[in-house]
Amino acid sequence: MRILLLAHSFNSLTQRLFGLLRQQGHQVSVELDIADVVTEEAVAMFQPDLLLAPFLKRRIPESVWTRTVCLVVHPGIPGDRGPSALDWMMLRDEAHWGVSVLQAVADFDAGEVWAWQPFDVRPQATKSSLYRREVTQAAVLAVLCALARFVPGQLKPAAAAKSTPSNATNAGQWHPQMTQDSRRIHWNLDTTAAVLQKIAAADGSPGVLDTLFFQPCRLFDAHPASAKVVSQFFSSAPGELLARRGPALLKRTTDGAVWVSHVRPDDGIATRDESTKLLKLASTRVFAEQAASLPELAVPLMRDDAEWDELRYREIGPEGARIGWLDFEFYNGAMSERQCIRLRDALRWIRTRPTQVLVLAGGQDFFSNGIHLHDIEAAQRVAGDSAADASWRNINAMNDVTLEVLTLTDRITVAALHANAGAGGCFLALAADLVWAHEGVVLNPHYKNMGNLYGSEYWTYSLPRRMPEANCRALMQERMPLCAAQAVASGLLDACFGSDSATFKTQVLERCLAMAGTADLAPRIMAKQAQREHDEMDKPLAAYREEELTRMKRNFYGFDPSYHVARHHFVFRKPHAWTPRHLALHRDLKPALTPLKPT
Ligand code: COA
Repeated sequence: MRILLLAHSFNSLTQRLFGLLRQQGHQVSVELDIADVVTEEAVAMFQPDLLLAPFLKRRIPESVWTRTVCLVVHPGIPGDRGPSALDWMMLRDEAHWGVSVLQAVADFDAGEVWAWQPFDVRPQATKSSLYRREVTQAAVLAVLCALARFVPGQLKPAAAAKSTPSNATNAGQWHPQMTQDSRRIHWNLDTTAAVLQKIAAADGSPGVLDTLFFQPCRLFDAHPASAKVVSQFFSSAPGELLARRGPALLKRTTDGAVWVSHVRPDDGIATRDESTKLLKLASTRVFAEQAASLPELAVPLMRDDAEWDELRYREIGPEGARIGWLDFEFYNGAMSERQCIRLRDALRWIRTRPTQVLVLAGGQDFFSNGIHLHDIEAAQRVAGDSAADASWRNINAMNDVTLEVLTLTDRITVAALHANAGAGGCFLALAADLVWAHEGVVLNPHYKNMGNLYGSEYWTYSLPRRMPEANCRALMQERMPLCAAQAVASGLLDACFGSDSATFKTQVLERCLAMAGTADLAPRIMAKQAQREHDEMDKPLAAYREEELTRMKRNFYGFDPSYHVARHHFVFRKPHAWTPRHLALHRDLKPALTPLKPT
């Protein structure tokens, strides 16, 4: 089929469907939803059999849906309607939810349901985490089901859709856009569970409007404090700020306390318009001065599960066949200079631990997305600093992390991608000996989308280890997302297994424990050391780094401002003015498409 993806942005779900549908042999092109006339033009040029809208904020023009089958992905069960579907579902505390694929008509989410797929709502998950995992997986299945019902030349589906689930509450209702009134935290009344639920239902947008240090701001990414931490502050009052840890501030609730890791200062306009212009940053960065007077409650890497922090390290297995497991749960996968330094230091300490295999597990929602673009943008406003200087420090810190992995030669390193990775985050993974992912992972192994950034993280060393030079060039130039299966076929990944993060985790553990206990591990490690020494003689890692950084210096400090412009647009979510040509195949002058259908 010829399928046009129409989307507000080329987000993770759109990328996943793009990769999957192309893999299935469909001709897939993308148009970002910029204006009705642009959509009409795209449809006229591409003449799709079907238009699919995985992530849309506006209506599809009537001129399009009356002539072409237009299917919209809605993150709600059949009958549910409105723009805040997941937010309302989470505040209602539903245990089961679903994704519907419905036909576009004049009203929002009111068309015929072609397919829908239920899922269990993961307890304590944030809205964005549910979206990236359960919703995306259910959407993929529902879309495939809906496509199976497509009859060429007909606007109606082939057979009846599944019925509405009986256990769904509030089905069949329109729910309006959720306002801050429904999200408000009442610190004197709300329990820890209620506070966490409200913040989770507003993540990663629009956040919960609150006040920290008398300044209005939106709260993101909250975690419960352990009983041990709370017991230190038994005489404090609800709403009081108590301590700091890494990026987070600790705030008292009626029955405990929560760590709030990220905030976006509110400029007041946001109460009228959800798209405030200020940056989402680590709480301890935004309130650095005020937070300095709070006690710092640092915790060791190896600790109780109840004790939250960004980094966590565990050891599993018997002596001599033991694996180390490092989680680095950085919000949105973005790695600031501070986070890179912490991770580098953690890796230096882990080096002293007696393990045979080290698993780099990244985060549950992103493995890593490379340098922290919001943090870099914020440096622009700091006296004596600049975005160029902050970029330079951040990429050097990121390279230091990557170097730790590349030079960890006394054990086998495994990058286990539980979630997507982009740009420098992909190449951090490639520093490991083995790179695995589950079937739902999407990779963006390129930098050019960020204003022609050249990239570092020793990619000029790690990528050619995995594929021929010409393929490396194509991968970097074409700037396409790759599904895990495609990444295995191209040599980027060593293996892909498990349909979701939970099954993947179990299997990674089993494989690594088996690897740590095999007799051929010692010769394998010796071969790895010999290879590293040989590669170092051939060309030192320092030379790769220097060459890459010479190009990056030009990106940061050179006369071409493309990187700074692209970063600014990215962090402030500026609306797209056009669809990138590498995605809009229908706009290509010499498209690799079959001839268009006669009109
Ligand atoms: N720095 C800071 N924030 C980042 C980030 C980065 N490197 N990468 C992603 N984010 C943030 C986004 O701003 C967004 O924030 P929000 O919670 O306020 O909405 C959130 O992470 C999710 O990103 P989004 O783009 O919506 O996710 P996606 O899954 O649709 O797309 C990527 C994933 C990786 C394709 C996309 O985020 C991207 O291009 N990131 C930049 C990668 C990069 O160029 N890194 C620098 C070079 S190493």
